[in-house]
Amino acid sequence: MKLKHKTYSLAEAFGPGFPTGLSVTGYEPSNCRFVPRVEPDYRWDRTLLRDLVVWWEHGNGDPVYLFGPTGSGKSSALRNFCGALKIPMYERTFHPQLEFDQLVSVVDLIDGSTITSYSHLPLAMGADGWPGLFVANEIDRADPGTVVGLNEILQGQPLFMHLGGLDPVDPAPGFRIAMTGNSAMSGDMVGGYVSVRQQDMAFADRPWFLKVAYPEPAVEEEILSAAVPDLSAPVRTKMIEVANDIRAAYMGTSTSDSALPLTMSTRVLRRWAKLTHLFHGARTASLNPIGYALDRALLYRAEGQPEVRRAVLKLVQGKFGDAHGSFS
Ligand SMILES: Nc1ncnc2c1ncn2[C@@H]1O[C@H](COP(=O)(O)OP(=O)(O)OP(=O)(O)O)[C@@H](O)[C@H]1O
Ligand SMILES: [Mg+2]
Repeated sequence: MKLKHKTYSLAEAFGPGFPTGLSVTGYEPSNCRFVPRVEPDYRWDRTLLRDLVVWWEHGNGDPVYLFGPTGSGKSSALRNFCGALKIPMYERTFHPQLEFDQLVSVVDLIDGSTITSYSHLPLAMGADGWPGLFVANEIDRADPGTVVGLNEILQGQPLFMHLGGLDPVDPAPGFRIAMTGNSAMSGDMVGGYVSVRQQDMAFADRPWFLKVAYPEPAVEEEILSAAVPDLSAPVRTKMIEVANDIRAAYMGTSTSDSALPLTMSTRVLRRWAKLTHLFHGARTASLNPIGYALDRALLYRAEGQPEVRRAVLKLVQGKFGDAHGSFS
């Protein structure tokens, strides 16, 4: 293995707001190209970070499954965790056509001959000396047959490759599997994630389940002020309140007959804030930057559903009042 272990205090790894007296094992900085970069405006949810640290330190090779609504920060949590601890990360997005073989090897045509090399899974297992985290994004959209292929690996078995003969790849100690998805692996209960499929019970039995909700308002305040520092604090706070109203009215959460078919992820909230700032200078009597930005960040998706648009704008008007103009 080319990586060297290093013990970090939580404060060193994740920022001064975390304890200096608690430690976690990562690696020394290396020249491995698969270590993700930490995003400077990423803000940790303390519960999620605690769960990930305990899983990483004491999970005994168990996989972890982060599930929650779209844009709540599942993939970015894993990326920032690996970035902070200098863990190589091999990320692959699953879809119904993805076959297990594609995780195992890559075949390239170079100067007329075919060259087979390692794909994400053997690299994560340490075949090249840089073991790390294999991240299966959107695992609940995969063909259950492809997912079952991971079972042997989860049981600590070697992976058999065909590189001019059968070539076993043994899992190195630093190899772990993390997965993300929008469902709790039992199919789409909400109706908004059309390609989610129910996964095999035998597979769903294996991982630790970590539920990732949208960040608390105080954390979203920090995310928005880091991402769009020029936006005024009162506007920022109201945007977060609107986002939480929309989330509460979303049909994944609300059972009301008038539940909304769309929600506002942290991703969209950030975009709304950013666009509001960018269009601030274009303000006229008929162009309200907050509403103009909301169309482009979210509401144009409700094209053809005027009642959805009206309902969302009513929430916005309710929060912002008349001081910011009207929303239509
Ligand atoms: N804690 C956070 N700090 C800063 N930005 C965040 C945070 N959580 C989410 N975001 C923002 O939201 C975006 C979406 O996050 P991410 O891609 O991790 O979501 P996801 O849960 O994996 O979504 P999906 O289910 O659609 O894959 C990020 O690029 C980032 O802009
Ligand atoms: Mg994701």
